[in-house]
Amino acid sequence: MSKSTLNQSAKYFMYFAWALIVLSCKVKPKEAPNQKDPTCYTQGAVVTAHPLATDVGLEVLQKGGNSFDAAIAVQFALSVVYPRAGNIGGGGFMVYRSEEGKTGSLDFRETAPLTSHKKMYLDENDEVIKGASVFGPTSVAVPGVVDGMWRMHQKFGSLAWEELLTPAIDLARDGYSLTEAEAAKLNTYRDDFLEANGPDMVFISHKDDWSKGDTILLPDLASCLGRIRDEGRSGFYEGHTATLLLAEVGGDNGYLRQKDLDSYTSRWVDVVKCKYRGHEVLSMPPPSSGGIALIQLLKGAEVYDIATMGAGTAQTIHLMTELERRVYADRATHLGDPEFWNVPEDMLLDSSYISNRNESISLSKKTDSQRIKEGNVEVIESIETTHFSIIDSKGNAVALTTTLNGNYGSKLMVDGAQFFLNNEMDDFSIKPGVPNMYGLIGGKANAIAPGKRMLSSMTPTIVLKDDEVFLILGTPGGSTIITSVFQVILNVVDHGMTLEDAVHEPRWHHQWLPDRVMYEKDRVESHVLNELKSYGHALESRSSIGRVDAIHIVDGTCIQAIGDSRGDDVGQGY
Ligand code: DON
Repeated sequence: MSKSTLNQSAKYFMYFAWALIVLSCKVKPKEAPNQKDPTCYTQGAVVTAHPLATDVGLEVLQKGGNSFDAAIAVQFALSVVYPRAGNIGGGGFMVYRSEEGKTGSLDFRETAPLTSHKKMYLDENDEVIKGASVFGPTSVAVPGVVDGMWRMHQKFGSLAWEELLTPAIDLARDGYSLTEAEAAKLNTYRDDFLEANGPDMVFISHKDDWSKGDTILLPDLASCLGRIRDEGRSGFYEGHTATLLLAEVGGDNGYLRQKDLDSYTSRWVDVVKCKYRGHEVLSMPPPSSGGIALIQLLKGAEVYDIATMGAGTAQTIHLMTELERRVYADRATHLGDPEFWNVPEDMLLDSSYISNRNESISLSKKTDSQRIKEGNVEVIESIETTHFSIIDSKGNAVALTTTLNGNYGSKLMVDGAQFFLNNEMDDFSIKPGVPNMYGLIGGKANAIAPGKRMLSSMTPTIVLKDDEVFLILGTPGGSTIITSVFQVILNVVDHGMTLEDAVHEPRWHHQWLPDRVMYEKDRVESHVLNELKSYGHALESRSSIGRVDAIHIVDGTCIQAIGDSRGDDVGQGY
């Protein structure tokens, strides 16, 4: 064989190998998506973490309620059928775009009790008191949900408040049947429930473990929701419910007091926004870090040709990781409740600040997080929040994320009212540099102070195209929320995926510290992992990352509602 034929063969071999690599980079995950051929709805749609809550929202829309009415009914329904995260004992955020094109957000995040102080979770040696910020009475912050729903109804409600509470009351009184996932979750937390509440707790099955199809009846929660139906905000923050709640956290001289309940107010705030490849992105401002971080990520990504780099390729994941590393370092230092901390929002969202910060990104080698800022932390996995998205026939769009923080929050269920109390206090930085349950660290900006809201990652988001609603999305997932929302937006906008594929696509996450790329076990190809290792990344698998419940309006007419197949989530429309 001549030398030139040899060269030729080598060249063909190289082409062949290269084509194989490119093809394998594009291999799609093997599992089939939840909803094979998403329906095109024309009027409105609702997507939530629980089929019964989705039904409740859809019924409200179908009888003429708007998206805000549906959101209120869904929030209360989730507090019954999805108690690990749906709640009246926690808080959340709502981003909206109204039919007139007005945008805004509602912050009904919990606040630190007035008895709280910077060192409340530290012992006399300044060491963290283990568990105090995550379990039992001392982890509970002042709940914001009922005040938030009440205010949302006052501003936007079109159906009677009583009507929006009725479905939740019916579900609590008449009972509902457990899904497999919910039964398993209750069994997992059995010992924690017993420890926090004593042996007679209703969430403990007294015959055996809970199983799929078992019925849960919550008569005391039905009465509690009845008081909220009849008395509005006061039905929760005053009177019998308030007495029961305070008894759970130490009585009127306890750690959380009537004064806290009286002074709680949710607040209307402007959204943060940015342009991204011809779209407009609206998201949640502080005390959520979500909106600012998402905008920093999108602005950072926009200068790269991500479409050509490809979906799910090591190169794209590496780039996302490098952007995320820098953004989460900013989060730890600069973000906190704006009423207590001067958040340098203009600086953080400034394009030249972002491009300077990303200048050190190499496309072939990881940056060491320790060189961006010091720290060394561990992530503990055990998380739950829930997001829902709604659009009505007039075009009102609602993205709402709500949480108790951990699964079933503090694990304390209010005796006589049967709702769980949050453990949101752990979202504060309880000691500079000490990670919370999501491995996130912080400092002064997110230190505890009476009446202050703890920093959040919840990122309810609406994306507009040609001044019309294009995407409504959000997810649970603690620190991974921001990166999941980021990724789904890239999947739709840059990679041109359908929403169903965009939600189904394997997820990746990096949060500066710990310096590891997190990925979904069994969902990604090993050659991508190997390639990432060759850039220097350390990897860590998670069983799954996030549960994105999203709506996409395709070509301005076809409404698709996709519930993430990682959970029981369901989208419905009409
Ligand atoms: O506000 C936050 O960022 C957290 N409390 C959210 C918790 C969460 O997403 C748990 N979900 N899986």
